[in-house]
Amino acid sequence: MKFPPDIRVPLTNHHTGQTYHLVRASEVPTGAEALARIAAICNEPEIYEWLFRGRLSGQAYTPDMARHFLQWAGEGWAAGTHFVFTVVDRDGAVAAACDIKTNTRIAEIGYWSSRNHRGVMTNAVRGLITLATEAGFVGLFARTKPGNTRSEAVLARAGFVKVRSDPDDFIRHELSLQANQDEPQRLPAHERAGRNVH
Ligand SMILES: CC(C)(COP(=O)(O)OP(=O)(O)OC[C@H]1O[C@@H](n2cnc3c(N)ncnc32)[C@H](O)[C@@H]1OP(=O)(O)O)[C@@H](O)C(=O)NCCC(=O)NCCS
Repeated sequence: MKFPPDIRVPLTNHHTGQTYHLVRASEVPTGAEALARIAAICNEPEIYEWLFRGRLSGQAYTPDMARHFLQWAGEGWAAGTHFVFTVVDRDGAVAAACDIKTNTRIAEIGYWSSRNHRGVMTNAVRGLITLATEAGFVGLFARTKPGNTRSEAVLARAGFVKVRSDPDDFIRHELSLQANQDEPQRLPAHERAGRNVH
């Protein structure tokens, strides 16, 4: 799968009308202020509860973890193994992030977005879908934990179809990227089998 070298996709915040840009996460600043900002976002209650409390055993998300996150993002872009994007505001500050987790025809996506920038994530995921289609992916999927209705709503607005629960109790949402579809479509059965990366 191949992405263009320069990615700067303009996005509109549905609520405020402000313009943001979707860029490679390897291109955002890595200074102390930028890392502190990412850490503060990842410690926001909604993001922390859904994504980090379990992984961090209740410890805070630190700026050093943000540094590792950006380093891991850079490694993914360099090796072509995973593709992490950030959504930056007009000052270039990170407001949200989304990623494609593998370099496989059908790949899982993930995302988080600051409560201070509510209204930008759906449009960012739509931008991600366009980039993924152009890069050659044929399908995307996401897995939400039961009860994560805000995340389910993002996926529904972006055209994903809720298909079933994975054995580990996650809810699976799929989007086919194959051309000429008027309606959101789930992935064909032969493409779905064995594609869960977890
Ligand atoms: C899930 C998450 C990213 C959603 O962020 P968000 O800001 O609510 O998402 P959106 O940008 O879609 O904005 C939602 C609001 O804008 C509206 N909106 C945004 N884009 C829209 C569009 N293109 N068309 C219509 N409405 C839109 C929605 O109706 C919604 O309105 P509301 O606030 O009145 O309910 C955020 O809650 C989060 O980071 N959660 C924790 C991490 C997480 O769960 N990640 C996913 C793991 S699977």
